[in-house]
Amino acid sequence: MGGVAGSRWNEGDRMAQKTRAGLAGLLDRMFGRGAAPVEPADATAGSGAAEAGQGGGACAADPHDIHLDTLQYLDLTEAPEVLAALYEKTATYWRNVASDPEEMYFSVITDPQFAGLLDHDMRAFFLSTGAHDIDRVQSILDRWLMTEGKPVMLDFGVGVGRLACNAAPLAERLHAVDFSRAHLDEAKVNAEMLGLTNMEFIAVDGLDDMEALPKVDAVYSLLVLQHNTPPVMARLLRGLLAALNPGGVAVIHIPLASINYQFDAATYLDSPEFGAQMEMHVLPRNNLNEIADQAGCDVVASYSHGGTVGLYSEWVTFRKLAG
Ligand SMILES: C[S@@+](CC[C@H](N)C(=O)[O-])C[C@H]1O[C@@H](n2cnc3c(N)ncnc32)[C@H](O)[C@@H]1O
Repeated sequence: MGGVAGSRWNEGDRMAQKTRAGLAGLLDRMFGRGAAPVEPADATAGSGAAEAGQGGGACAADPHDIHLDTLQYLDLTEAPEVLAALYEKTATYWRNVASDPEEMYFSVITDPQFAGLLDHDMRAFFLSTGAHDIDRVQSILDRWLMTEGKPVMLDFGVGVGRLACNAAPLAERLHAVDFSRAHLDEAKVNAEMLGLTNMEFIAVDGLDDMEALPKVDAVYSLLVLQHNTPPVMARLLRGLLAALNPGGVAVIHIPLASINYQFDAATYLDSPEFGAQMEMHVLPRNNLNEIADQAGCDVVASYSHGGTVGLYSEWVTFRKLAG
């Protein structure tokens, strides 16, 4: 791995401060807390995830403030035009952030060393941070997926390919999906750099596209659903579970609880502040159990991801009933 220039660190500090300020403001608005300093979103990704089977969730904010039973269930019924507007706010944020090449890698992992333009060695290092997560996905698939041979896989919210570039060698074919074309283009560049030839890139533009996803044996999605509002998150999860072949397995990172979290679509859509920054949302466990049930899936395992920004999340493993 190459060295990291001082100016990059300074630039990273600037961006990290911007993100911290944004997230602190977000906490203040969404959870009614003071704007206490917080760790940047996703900063623990790839390095701090708890090992499979271990419980407990460390959190950068006060972990004792997160009560898994505070938000039992959300009514996520929304009119199609409301759902579309919610989706568009999140999509617009991610498309805008990726339109600046200097923000591309930092938007995925908000660690100052990934701010600015990354040279070849730094990109390779960035991609290597996904190896641990994919080892973990693989160990979950080894346990629950009965497919003979290599599975056809789908990475939802592929970003720049941090996970996909590690997963592709384990798959017969890997479908890489994102709603940001700039992220997808960068993922293609990275796949080519690594000589990976079994990836297909799919741009999605709305919730209806979730119903047209290819059928696969395994889905994984990490650090993605959390950025979508709860009604959209529910639809995304339905789409991902519908994409599973019988006996297929999905490993989905889902935020389950957050400090004083509440969500109201009308308030959210009325406020220009929402959708303007990276956001973290919640899908209560009862909602995800209901969605799994309706999709003909069992929740077979769930492992703590730990937490960031006062958020507690798990890697939930779903298996579609066979035949
Ligand atoms: C924090 S990055 C994580 C990328 C990758 N999963 C990883 O761990 O490196 C979030 C990615 O998910 C994408 N994303 C978020 N919500 C999405 C949605 N509803 N549909 C498609 N892509 C989405 C963003 O465009 C971005 O590329």
